Amino acid sequence: MQRAAPKIIITLDGPAGVGKSSLGKELANALPPELGLAFLDTGAMFRATAYFLGEAAGEADGPDSLAARLEKLDFTLRGSGEASELLCNGRVPGREIRSESIGAAASRLALNREVRDFLRKAQQKIGAQYSLVAEGRDMGTVVFPSADCKFFLDARPEVRALRRRNQLLNQNAGKDAPVPDLECIERLIRQRDEQDRQRALAPLRPAEDAVIIDTSDLERAEVLAKLLAEVRKKLL
Ligand code: DC
Repeated sequence: MQRAAPKIIITLDGPAGVGKSSLGKELANALPPELGLAFLDTGAMFRATAYFLGEAAGEADGPDSLAARLEKLDFTLRGSGEASELLCNGRVPGREIRSESIGAAASRLALNREVRDFLRKAQQKIGAQYSLVAEGRDMGTVVFPSADCKFFLDARPEVRALRRRNQLLNQNAGKDAPVPDLECIERLIRQRDEQDRQRALAPLRPAEDAVIIDTSDLERAEVLAKLLAEVRKKLL
């Protein structure tokens, strides 16, 4: 019987607005196609779960009914590189999960043990099927502790707020959707940092063996070049 080739896992952790998603996709795309690396956005899994569970996510339900509701969620992945798509119950979650309010709801939900256990198992299952660049908060510490290559990206909160605002402005170009001002975005980012870093379960922090990159004063292309150089050194 032929054994499946071992999967390569590259983890990319860091706080909100640091550019993990864009860089993760670009990294998966820039590496040789024969590696077949797909990009896994685990923040989108928390966001889709928050959206699916709705306002009263978690706390209002007893543990049984929360477990029963989580069991209705099925996460799968298709494609590779920049074309990777995460599906939730067979459908790619749309813009509805990208708002700041769903981001904040996802961060609150991420404190819940049952939700974390459920999503960790779903992430590890995907990691057993595909070679991945996996982005999130606890990829290198909890979900894939023996990953082949680990990164932790950071940047000053004001820099991340500016990047997030530009991203929202681009997404909303030509639409009538209001974009929060810079101060408001920075405040939300700081709140989310606090919640993600201080929580007891799988807090946001670099794995001991992660390469830490402060991207505050770097262009995205420069960060990508650093990531690629490190991956080539370790894996190719
Ligand atoms: O990366 P993001 O902004 O899409 O993530 C939304 C929230 O989900 C984040 O504030 C905390 C939570 N999250 C987490 O706890 N663990 C992950 N691996 C990914 C996201």
